[in-house]
Amino acid sequence: MPEAVLQMSHVGVTLSGQDGSVVEVSRDVSLALAPREFVSIVGPSGAGKTTLLRAASGLRRPTTGEVSFDGEPLTDVRAGISVVFQEYNKSLFPWMSIGKNVAMAARHLPAAERASRVADALRLVALEGMGSRYPWELSGGMQQRAALARALVSGPRVLMLDEPFASVDALTRGLLEDVVADLWERSSFAALLVTHDVGEAVYLSDRVLVLSARPSRIMAEVTIDLPRPRRQTHTRRLQRFVELEAEVLEFVYKAGRGSAGQGS
Ligand SMILES: Nc1ncnc2c1ncn2[C@@H]1O[C@H](COP(=O)(O)OP(=O)(O)OP(=O)(O)O)[C@@H](O)[C@H]1O
Ligand SMILES: [Mg+2]
Repeated sequence: MPEAVLQMSHVGVTLSGQDGSVVEVSRDVSLALAPREFVSIVGPSGAGKTTLLRAASGLRRPTTGEVSFDGEPLTDVRAGISVVFQEYNKSLFPWMSIGKNVAMAARHLPAAERASRVADALRLVALEGMGSRYPWELSGGMQQRAALARALVSGPRVLMLDEPFASVDALTRGLLEDVVADLWERSSFAALLVTHDVGEAVYLSDRVLVLSARPSRIMAEVTIDLPRPRRQTHTRRLQRFVELEAEVLEFVYKAGRGSAGQGS
């Protein structure tokens, strides 16, 4: 396997609440993301998926263990890693047009190059010509595609997605999954997706990692040997898809039973 673009080694995160409570969210999580690989992390609500992604992206220093990006310790946010957050509808600036929102993520580039990159990114997510619209003028699915364009405009080596399709309807969700699958196939970034939707994880990934209940660790890893390119109407009907989904679900239920009563 080629050298990992992103590596988490024995990462543990312990958080302190404002009331003085201390929560050990995850313990001893190790994972290596190869260049161009698509890996998903699934696990029960409150297992610490978002917390782990924040550590993986450099937004939060892990309490124990370490994260490295391109072979170097990751101690802060870094160009080369883009994140689409769980609450995407809060992540676009409402007072800025879509084009300006996307351009913000490429502000280090000279103006002419920035403009062409923004146009490219909007085209990639099928929002061509929509740059002058404001977020509130777009549907939820379109806003999510705008958030994706913003994540992609800088040409990341790793794209991290935290429940990116949680607040859209099922049809839009399927379409957005295909937007991501398509972008990933045509680009060269590695992807790390966090989701509680097992079908989505299986559909998109090369590997699915299942988190246990808190303190979470990786309790299972399932290799997804489904052919690519994948398409909703085809892939999800394959016998192998159904088998893999059942296999992952089994682990998730086990993890969920472990967390029953823990809340989130
Ligand atoms: N800043 C914080 N201070 C203290 N505890 C926190 C903080 N942020 C999260 N937690 C706790 O850490 C645990 C993990 O939260 P996290 O948001 O990572 O879970 P998650 O798996 O992403 O959940 P969901 O599926 O609901 O998005 C939760 O119990 C949460 O209450
Ligand atoms: Mg979360």
